[in-house]
Amino acid sequence: MTPLPLSAAAERNKHPILEQLQQLLPPQGTALEIAAGTGQHALWFADALPGWVWQPTDGDSAALPALAARAAKARHANIRPPRPLDVQVLPWSVDGPFDLVFCANMLHISPWTTCSALMQGTAGRLTPRGQLVVYGPFLEEGVPTAPGNVAFDESLRARDPAWGLRRLADVCREAAEAGLALRSRRPMPANNLLLVFGRG
Ligand SMILES: C[S@@+](CC[C@H](N)C(=O)[O-])C[C@H]1O[C@@H](n2cnc3c(N)ncnc32)[C@H](O)[C@@H]1O
Repeated sequence: MTPLPLSAAAERNKHPILEQLQQLLPPQGTALEIAAGTGQHALWFADALPGWVWQPTDGDSAALPALAARAAKARHANIRPPRPLDVQVLPWSVDGPFDLVFCANMLHISPWTTCSALMQGTAGRLTPRGQLVVYGPFLEEGVPTAPGNVAFDESLRARDPAWGLRRLADVCREAAEAGLALRSRRPMPANNLLLVFGRG
């Protein structure tokens, strides 16, 4: 049997991200995960947050069979079957609303237009008091960029000129266009940030 794809980074960062979610979230709710990739986050969070129903999605339909296989193996009753969802196709093709929209490590590995789409799509599917949690590396005015992130940015742009680390101020501007505001900025291991947005 072919082993399921495994992201070493997701294995590492799922622990500190879960700690943040446990602080941020009420005991129950519904979550929409954007760009779920291998599904490692979906499984970890659904297991640790049994009051939450988790809907994983990804824009790459080729990623979905492995995601579904991982979810089926874990047998968590609170994970819905993964669905294809390209953030740029608005309105999003999932029934909502959701108390949480979660998106890790997509904005720097996709064109900049996905940021506006993420914000607009979220605004159309978030409950009034819902939260958008975005995780990944960002550039910040007045904060020296870690050498690792400078090198990462260069390697991303070499792979695809449309990719690259995003400026937090630009992300917040796109959020504001969609009626969302940054509520919390939390430093995370390995020079990442966890950003929490809510309705403005
Ligand atoms: C680096 S992986 C991150 C996967 C996972 N969230 C994680 O942190 O391990 C980037 C993911 O973004 C997805 N993606 C890229 N563009 C997208 C889009 N327009 N809509 C939805 N997902 C997209 C890719 O298919 C891929 O699964």
